[in-house]
Amino acid sequence: MCSRASSTNGYGALTWPPSSSGANRKPLTALTPSGRQVRCRRAGLPYPPPVDLVPAGRRAPLLFEALPELRGLPWTPLAHAPSPVERMDAIADWLGPGERWMKRDDRISPLYGGNKVRRYEFVLAEAQAAGKTRIVTAGGIASTQAQATALFGRALGFRVHVVLFDQPVTRFAKRALLVDAAAGAELEWGGGYVATTLRTARALLRERKASTLILPGAANPTANLGYVDAMLELDAQVRAGQMPRPDAIVLPTGSSGTLAALALGAAHLGWDTEIVGVRITTALATNRFTIAEVAAATDRFLCRRAPRGWTARRRQARWSIDPSALGPGYGHPTAEALEAIPQVERLLGVPGEVTYSAKALAAFRRLARAPRWQGKTLLFWCTLSSIVPPAPAEAAEALPPSLRRLLDAPETA
Ligand SMILES: Cc1ncc(COP(=O)(O)O)c(C=O)c1O
Repeated sequence: MCSRASSTNGYGALTWPPSSSGANRKPLTALTPSGRQVRCRRAGLPYPPPVDLVPAGRRAPLLFEALPELRGLPWTPLAHAPSPVERMDAIADWLGPGERWMKRDDRISPLYGGNKVRRYEFVLAEAQAAGKTRIVTAGGIASTQAQATALFGRALGFRVHVVLFDQPVTRFAKRALLVDAAAGAELEWGGGYVATTLRTARALLRERKASTLILPGAANPTANLGYVDAMLELDAQVRAGQMPRPDAIVLPTGSSGTLAALALGAAHLGWDTEIVGVRITTALATNRFTIAEVAAATDRFLCRRAPRGWTARRRQARWSIDPSALGPGYGHPTAEALEAIPQVERLLGVPGEVTYSAKALAAFRRLARAPRWQGKTLLFWCTLSSIVPPAPAEAAEALPPSLRRLLDAPETA
């Protein structure tokens, strides 16, 4: 197994780029949850970085204890849970007074953090159980899902094909492209949404039997179990006195799988906490009907798979949409998001990005100052990774020209 790295971003043990002496050029290996060693080296680059992929001592999600009927579902440990809950002291002056907390899913794995890791415990295990060897997915050029799929998919031995649609070119997007390529994903430029959909379908059909499709957001019921489980984790932390029960939980929302799952989890616990999704994309994609449908599908799945332990919760789920931070559209900078980027850095130690974290934090600040939430406990659920995988310049060679050209494009943020 690759050694555990010690730095705060999890990559301290790795010199990057590889030294000319070749010391870092020997292939690295990672241990899969099933105990298999996989080679991590692609395109001549040592990747993924040498960290513990599998959390030590995590045997099962809390959900399997709470709902034993779910125990037969495929699951593989990836999340180094529980993620801590902490006060948002670093930006208390910027937020204004009040009980303001955060849930640190930004460092839920030393390989890569953010809100894909908990859902991939179920999604990738399901693909393994079905005998799939290839993952096809799609996202924007700055997609965190593309990075998570490339990193965790490759580390578990899958081939990964990602179709990337256009969005404003930012520093974060350029970095994401290099990470995707260095991790060994096969990358394809998608263009607009329609062309990306067609290209994704074509990529899937090319090796239909071997492949599994992960849609943008991975918001299907199996994946959402990861965040129902996360809510049980938060409940345990509240009961242990680590923080008060929050009156509201705020997070950026796209496919809304995370929001819907947290809301169902809170309803299952009997909490009256409101889950506020800061909408970061068009209302056509994220609205009360799409969110209600994601919640209903997950609720139905749980009713079906755990009829004794789970009773329908979608009517009790308390969630709302905050559309105030979006601005001109998905990934487009706004003045307040640009102002929030350094606040994300003060909070998490890594620069924020405009698509999710900065817009959500700007909206969180507005809520924290609104009369309705005075005297209440608010929790910001950190969905961006603060683990920053190396983005070696050499990885540009593995990008197709249609994506490589973006590395020279002017940055909007
Ligand atoms: C950093 C970050 N936050 C929030 C989200 C939105 O999560 P969801 O698609 O579950 O709404 C995403 C989705 O990719 C994300 O990358």
